[in-house]
Amino acid sequence: MKRIAVLTSGGDAPGMNAAIRAVVRTGLAKGWEVLGGRQGYSGLISGDFFPLGSRNVGGIIQRGGTILGSARSPEFETHEGRLKALSQLHRNGIEGLIVIGGNGSQAGAYELSQLRFPVVGIASTIDNDLQGSDITIGVDTALNIALEAIDRLKVTASSLHRAFLVEVMGRKCGYLALMAAIAGGAEAVIIPEIETDPEAVAAELRAAYDRGKPHAIMVVAEGSQYDAEGMAHYFEVHQKRLGFELRVTRLGHVQRGGAPGSFDRLLGTRFGAASTEQLASGEHGVLIGLLKGVIATTPLADVVANKKSLDLGLLELAHLLAH
Ligand code: F6P
Repeated sequence: MKRIAVLTSGGDAPGMNAAIRAVVRTGLAKGWEVLGGRQGYSGLISGDFFPLGSRNVGGIIQRGGTILGSARSPEFETHEGRLKALSQLHRNGIEGLIVIGGNGSQAGAYELSQLRFPVVGIASTIDNDLQGSDITIGVDTALNIALEAIDRLKVTASSLHRAFLVEVMGRKCGYLALMAAIAGGAEAVIIPEIETDPEAVAAELRAAYDRGKPHAIMVVAEGSQYDAEGMAHYFEVHQKRLGFELRVTRLGHVQRGGAPGSFDRLLGTRFGAASTEQLASGEHGVLIGLLKGVIATTPLADVVANKKSLDLGLLELAHLLAH
């Protein structure tokens, strides 16, 4: 192998730059040329590659986002789009591709590998919903950002004995919300994996006041049956009967834009280094992830075919600890 390319795709995640840096420097150490692909699969289709040297990835390990840019590419979801991308890879003399991203990105990587192109995926998404890695790049930093917000809201909530709702990202997965609720000491948590009864939630918040708490914090995952908007609407309509107001904060993309903490810098670095080793070994079509604390590979076919499950035992723990 002489020349490889690396791209980032889908939602950016803090720690992606650490992974890019490790791919570039370990690839160069193998005597390869390393190209960066701009704007995810869109750039792959248009052949937007540029050479990456060691200095190009200097000073990026501490930066959030991705120096390569990212995109969600509807064209790459079509067979024609993927064939265009494949011909660009061949035209540019690229012999291996590393794809840093989450579910949609790894589904794309799988499709490329089905076209017999050597691809290795790196598990990266703040949602932590990717099969093949217990934790993905960006989760830890995003969680810490959510916690900072919850801690601050608790201060003002306690001063005025108020109830607050904090909505966190996660697409259809409740991992971020559940972990933020446990680590932030929230009184209630709403996740997509469980049906929600807003009356029961209101009762939980009321019970927190009755137990003498000065605040009531509810963490809501954006993909829940009742998201921030739905829950806020319910509380507004029933405010008189429920006896208290609900203030709403949606963290949204704020959660994604932070500078990576040590965990994500190290995870990105380890994944990046492992990905070039994997390409060199000739066994591609796999995702690099962390399983039981160890860097491990999972066939992309398994990654796309299986849904990662959430440990719902932790939901019981969250309820118990809210007392
Ligand atoms: O997958 C990462 C994520 O941040 C999700 O949590 C969120 O639902 C989605 O991306 C938002 O996507 P976009 O940045 O395209 O609005």
